[in-house]
Amino acid sequence: MKPNAHYAELKDSYLFYHIAQKISAYLAEHPGAYLYRMGIGDVSLPLCDAVIGALHEAVDDQADKERFHGYMPECGAPFLREAIAAHYRSRGVQLEDDEVFVSSGASDELGDILDLFDRDGSSLIMEPAYPAYVDANVMAGRKIIHLPSNEQNGFLPMPCEAAKADLIYICSPNNPTGAAFSRSQLKRWVDFANENGSVILFDAAYEAFIEDDICPHSIFEIPGAETCAIEICSLSKTAGFTGTRLGYTVLPKALVREGMSLNEMWVRNRTTKTNGVSYILQKGGTAVFTPEGQRQIRENLRVYKKNARTLMQALDALGIWYCGGENAPYIWLRCPGGMGSWDFFDFLLNEIQVIGTPGEGFGACGEGYFRFSTFGSPEDTQEAARRLVSLFKQDCR
Ligand code: MLT
Repeated sequence: MKPNAHYAELKDSYLFYHIAQKISAYLAEHPGAYLYRMGIGDVSLPLCDAVIGALHEAVDDQADKERFHGYMPECGAPFLREAIAAHYRSRGVQLEDDEVFVSSGASDELGDILDLFDRDGSSLIMEPAYPAYVDANVMAGRKIIHLPSNEQNGFLPMPCEAAKADLIYICSPNNPTGAAFSRSQLKRWVDFANENGSVILFDAAYEAFIEDDICPHSIFEIPGAETCAIEICSLSKTAGFTGTRLGYTVLPKALVREGMSLNEMWVRNRTTKTNGVSYILQKGGTAVFTPEGQRQIRENLRVYKKNARTLMQALDALGIWYCGGENAPYIWLRCPGGMGSWDFFDFLLNEIQVIGTPGEGFGACGEGYFRFSTFGSPEDTQEAARRLVSLFKQDCR
């Protein structure tokens, strides 16, 4: 047996696993230390009542001979596909129910979807980027084209000759920078993809955080996207499903390459490789798309947005450059005093027990930057902000 040699090209460990190990080592040396966790984007609020009620009912269904469900349809329960498609239609995006595929989360799907594409093809990754994009492509042995972004282009790179690739990853609002493409900017990427026969993998995990009318929630708000894009979504950040696991993918029937329908290919893939997502979870997820569910998840999102303002005020007071935090649950800042991003991580951990994510973990061009997640509790976020201000109260621009 020959192992997949591409694993040797990966970094030794995955970013968030590596950080978790560093935290464990710190706690082993400082037993009982309390840490202010603004590293991984993991939610701190429980699932909303509408979802919990639906989950309980679904558990009861599984105890009842008449209402019990065995295997679920591999591509998703009709009731959830219908609820998601209706949610899109309510925002002016016309979708058929069978263009929606229920998944167990965006991160799984972002890797699995590569099955649809020729392994000899190339993938464009705009960096800094969610590290799973790179790792999944390395594991699959695909050629990666790294497109760096920076403060000058607002961390929103535009199409160019060097960006020609078979697959184009776009995450907007972006993890980690919090930058979000406007409709007109995204239209340029859609046109570029259609002109070059590329497919855009649009990661919409953070769409619920968009506050303005300039940035689209879905790439399918952009004319032409139905012939070049797949949208991968998650209820993790929108509705607190990080530990519950549920997502969905929109794959239009109009997306065809070399006479092959990617929608039909994905049906073929899912029916072979999965037995569907559990009935209980899909019932819980359906509650997110009810009017009451939408109202309740918005209440939770408001808490995280307030956290963002707390951190932004602290950075403003310190004169530290940052972006994000407006349409996204991440704040991307320049490490003070020209510090390296891993040094800054150690510094904050050791001095004030605050955890963030080093920018270098999102790609080489993230070096010198740092990410704060705003998903912590308000109490922890306020205390972390207070500690930051008192640590850096000297001018640190
Ligand atoms: C992050 O912190 O970048 C995300 O929470 C990771 C993820 O969604 O898997």
